Amino acid sequence: MRSDSTDSLLGKGESGLPAVEIEKMLERIREIPPMPESIVHLMEISNSNKYFTREFSAIIESDPSLTASILKVANSAYAAQNREITSVKEAVTILGKNMVVSTAIRSFSGKFFDRKLAGYGGGGQSLWKHSFATAIAASEVAGCGKAIDTETSFTAGILHDVGKVLISEHMSGHEEVLSRKLDESTVNDYLALERSILGTDHCEVGALLAENWKLPEALVESIRCHHHPSLAERPGRDIVSAVHLGDILAMEIGVSTGSDCMCYRMDRTVIDILQISENDMEKLRDRVKSKYQRRLAMYSWG
Ligand SMILES: [Fe+2]
Ligand SMILES: [Fe+2]
Repeated sequence: MRSDSTDSLLGKGESGLPAVEIEKMLERIREIPPMPESIVHLMEISNSNKYFTREFSAIIESDPSLTASILKVANSAYAAQNREITSVKEAVTILGKNMVVSTAIRSFSGKFFDRKLAGYGGGGQSLWKHSFATAIAASEVAGCGKAIDTETSFTAGILHDVGKVLISEHMSGHEEVLSRKLDESTVNDYLALERSILGTDHCEVGALLAENWKLPEALVESIRCHHHPSLAERPGRDIVSAVHLGDILAMEIGVSTGSDCMCYRMDRTVIDILQISENDMEKLRDRVKSKYQRRLAMYSWG
């Protein structure tokens, strides 16, 4: 049975891609393996403060491949200490919630995130690096002004642009049309460009994939609305706003997925929603940059 989102995507075929192409895209979404329950569970409980080491460890230990990935990254982070980490509990303590969740997502979908984004002019790993930087930035933003759930903001940041993988190939070959439309100012942001060519955009397609993965609603909503947080449903608007500003900060420190950063419009409502000042922005930029560089080095194992 089709979801409402599927129907809305199919409806877009009238103005953009032919319906047959939209159907192919939907088929690809259905073919993507489901997110393992262990990882979805980690995402669901990442914002609980109580006993997270014990709960996280129990989930990780029930999944041998996840255990191997977590130990690998913990050992990479701890390499200078000249001591091997062999216990999941210790690895979780060393890495902390956010690094555990990002490692789990990467261990499941590394190849997916590492694909070259031809339609955006982004090289291999550009999506992973941008997503990781956005996650760190969204979490920092969430902890800066208004008190917002930093862990969910981080996870939402990792996943926000996942739809680009699915539409990138459809955007490829349209570069000339894109630059003409930009020069003529017939569209004013990259999302509008995607819609003018495909009849849909990476937010809508990404949200559909997240629904298929049965991710928590807060994550689906933030993927769907991360370019326009004011359109998000009120309960999740804070997190979507943190991701939106995190996305901008990631681009400002030079970590983008390619050409889309040339015309990304900031939704100014987030400044009031998040209670962030210009002064905060300066500090956030520096903090995000150094944290991103430090943490990315932990993934040197690929
Ligand atoms: Fe985006
Ligand atoms: Fe982004």
